Amino acid sequence: MTHDELKEMLAEASKVFVLTDANVAMYWLPELKHWLDCEQAVEVVVKAGERYKTLGTARRIWKALLKNQADRQSVLVNLGGGTISDMGGFVASCYQRGIRFVNVPTTLLAMVDASIGGKNGVDLGGVKNQIGTFAEPEEVLVNPIFLSTLSDRELLSGIAEMVKYGYVADEDLLKVDESNYEQYILRAGRIKKEIVEQDFRDHGKRRILNFGHTVGHAIEAYSMTTDNLLTHGEAVAVGMWSALWLSIGECGLDEEVLDDYLLKMQILLSESGWSFTQKDIEPIMAYLKHDKKNVNGQYGFVLLRDIEKPVCDRFVSDAVIRESLSELMDHLNDV
Ligand SMILES: NC(=O)c1ccc[n+]([C@@H]2O[C@H](COP(=O)([O-])OP(=O)(O)OC[C@H]3O[C@@H](n4cnc5c(N)ncnc54)[C@H](O)[C@@H]3O)[C@@H](O)[C@H]2O)c1
Repeated sequence: MTHDELKEMLAEASKVFVLTDANVAMYWLPELKHWLDCEQAVEVVVKAGERYKTLGTARRIWKALLKNQADRQSVLVNLGGGTISDMGGFVASCYQRGIRFVNVPTTLLAMVDASIGGKNGVDLGGVKNQIGTFAEPEEVLVNPIFLSTLSDRELLSGIAEMVKYGYVADEDLLKVDESNYEQYILRAGRIKKEIVEQDFRDHGKRRILNFGHTVGHAIEAYSMTTDNLLTHGEAVAVGMWSALWLSIGECGLDEEVLDDYLLKMQILLSESGWSFTQKDIEPIMAYLKHDKKNVNGQYGFVLLRDIEKPVCDRFVSDAVIRESLSELMDHLNDV
């Protein structure tokens, strides 16, 4: 869809709603309405961050839609990072059994990953993305201008997801860093799109995109119960270390791949100051039990035989995962 076609779609909608969070609203809400010629759009502003990606917030958004008479011809524009596109897509796909939505990603992570592919959802009981839908946005509008107000920490978070594509799909993405990420945005988004097109419902190839996300999601969820909150990308950066470590023993991955990643991980975590101790390992293990890739209580990891050679459904024992977390703990304490 061209920019003009999108403006036309919004002009023809019975009502346009813009969902965003308080941080993004401050920087970009008026600009976006002006840019899309939808000054009359109803603004729905929620609190920022993963802590608010919940059914409670979704309910508030549904109520705002209802109060403002949203109908099947209305369009919801999700202006924000992955928490907004995940939650907005979910809300839109359930409201009156589904209204159209458009994603306007404002974080690097959302531009290259979260806003693409139609996985929507909210967390439940602290467990990530337990309630959700598959529904695709009408359009994803990527404009790197939004990144001008993004913190270095959030930029690194997006770079972590780009590095993930480097391991599972396109080695060139392993070169992405703070100095060159802009030139890889479209390429990274295209990788995601191509993989999703082959397996929209996540039964096959799409699962390679979960590389680093098994331990990553558990650590992200656990961090939400502490004062030391990790970004999604930081958690994935940690999860990738675990997945690479496990890949050596389980799939014969060359140890050098892990050695090379250590420096990258240190950079990706450099704004977080995060580390953990022995007492954190069991709570992290408890969150692992909720992972959607588990089958019959076993953890289904995405591991690597080599760079660009991912293997899905590698079931690894609790003892080996605990060992990987202990090793990781030692490395993080050295950072
Ligand atoms: N659906 C998917 O396929 C998919 C894929 C990857 C991640 N995700 C989800 O995405 C979420 C993480 O997304 P995220 O990293 O974008 O986090 P986020 O949406 O929470 O944004 C991070 C922070 O940056 C702020 N922010 C956003 N854009 C800004 C801008 N342009 N300028 C200044 N501040 C800005 C936000 O207010 C927030 O405080 C997680 O919930 C994760 O599970 C979903």
